[in-house]
Amino acid sequence: MFNLLTRKSIRKYQPNITIDDQQIENIIKDCQKAPSARNRQPIKFYVVKSKSALQAVRPLFPENFPHVDTCSILVFLMGDLRSYGITDASSENEIDKARNAILVDGGIMVNQMLQVVRLHGYEACAVGNFQKVQLNGVLNLDNFLIPILAVTIGLPDDEGKPYDRLDVKDIYKIL
Ligand SMILES: Cc1cc2nc3c(=O)[nH]c(=O)nc-3n(C[C@H](O)[C@H](O)[C@H](O)COP(=O)(O)O)c2cc1C
Repeated sequence: MFNLLTRKSIRKYQPNITIDDQQIENIIKDCQKAPSARNRQPIKFYVVKSKSALQAVRPLFPENFPHVDTCSILVFLMGDLRSYGITDASSENEIDKARNAILVDGGIMVNQMLQVVRLHGYEACAVGNFQKVQLNGVLNLDNFLIPILAVTIGLPDDEGKPYDRLDVKDIYKIL
């Protein structure tokens, strides 16, 4: 049975597993259930599936990323500044405020995606370590879209590592 608490980052996937386009859409549809501030829904999904698309983005990632090399799809979550009313005429201050708000919506969406893929039988890993400045150029995206994070998705080829958590007593205070 699906258990929210058993998720782990998976960094090695079974090779040659294809996720069909309808299933990708179903995953994204389920991700849309995530909350966002004022329901602005600023997050857009750019799904890298073909070998040629993966080859184009691969240089943006450090060499030692088996999950990027073995995943069935690599999804870039991008925040759309236009969802927060940003236009070419917006001030730096307005853009900064919108960017900060979008990063919160984006973080919530990343976690939604990490869990939703498991409902569809896959595992995933969030990947923040890539060259974000170059991404828009490689994907031919305008600058209203800001990179949040990438997520690798596939069928697991290992169990993932156990990552300890801090002592719970050290991270909360009841006031
Ligand atoms: C914002 C963010 C960025 C991350 N970036 C990377 C990354 O670049 N490479 C990677 O292998 N894992 C990355 N991770 C996964 C974390 O390392 C992982 O979630 C953490 O070690 C806890 O392990 P767990 O997910 O298995 O519980 C990232 C996770 C988050 C939330």
